[in-house]
Amino acid sequence: MRLLDYERWVLMAREALLNVKPDIRTVRAQVGGKTIDYGIDVDAIVITGMGGSGVIGDILQDLCWYWDCRLPIYTVKHAVLPKIPASSPLVIAISYSGNTTETIKCVEEALKRGYPVIGVTTGGRLGEMLRNFGLPVVGIPRATAPRYALPGMLYAALAILELYKAVTIGIELEQGLRGIEEALRDVDMASETANWIKGYTPVFWVPESRRGIGIRLKNDLNENAKYFCIVAVIPESSHNDLAAITGGQNVRHLVLTEGVDAERPFIDALMEVLEEHNVEFKAIRLKGSTPLETELYGVTYVGLISLALAEALNVDPVPIKPIERIRALIERRQ
Ligand code: PA5
Repeated sequence: MRLLDYERWVLMAREALLNVKPDIRTVRAQVGGKTIDYGIDVDAIVITGMGGSGVIGDILQDLCWYWDCRLPIYTVKHAVLPKIPASSPLVIAISYSGNTTETIKCVEEALKRGYPVIGVTTGGRLGEMLRNFGLPVVGIPRATAPRYALPGMLYAALAILELYKAVTIGIELEQGLRGIEEALRDVDMASETANWIKGYTPVFWVPESRRGIGIRLKNDLNENAKYFCIVAVIPESSHNDLAAITGGQNVRHLVLTEGVDAERPFIDALMEVLEEHNVEFKAIRLKGSTPLETELYGVTYVGLISLALAEALNVDPVPIKPIERIRALIERRQ
């Protein structure tokens, strides 16, 4: 299978970590008549980004189910920055290209409100705008497409969270990288799963605490394999999507079987109902011993499923023409 940048993922994560410099906290700058001070104690984190960059917010939210996160994290995948129920939030604006209209609009609004903004990007208009104001930009390693740059964006965001004392991650950062290596050893299993869903619309059941892995599979199947996918989040989807299993549509079910302890009965009950209805499903088990390692195993593994499906369908995983078109249209309408 063509693994694109996956074999460099561990290195990309380590490289991005080095780009988060503690002197970010010493930045003080004037923007639109307001002083923005990066040394303040922030009371919330806003992650803004779209697609392959925005999924970092979902992954961080998963991790906060397991870690002792000291600040609320809000994920904004929109051009409109909503009201943030906090007096001094830090905004982490993630855009691989730095040219995503939605993310740039959110940043402009955040700066108007006087919030500190840190860019995580390879450059583009976002990098240029922040640098022109003297505001911090964390560079990330380049990849074939934004979604393949996940580890660099994730590790940069994690290091920023640690810098602002939102979480204490310590050695888990390095240990977490084993999840990537472990998943890369499971390429054959990922190919088997890809062949099993081929020709069907996959329904991926994930516990709420691993919703980010669900979103990642959906996005990767959409973009790499040009394939639709439904994400059903447990327990909520047990109160709606579940009724559709008697409808006879051309779907195949995948169940991610690991969540926080309190989610166990909800996952088990779901699998019991699927079995009672003779609905075949494939269980996806996460490997690893820490929350970051298991999450990284999950996001890497589902990415491999999508690349294997692309290969099985004879589809080039890299181009995403309709997305490029809509990006251009949106930019033109600003
Ligand atoms: O993976 C992709 O190519 C897309 O999902 C992009 O991430 C998305 O269009 C946003 O672009 P960027 O990550 O450059 O902000």
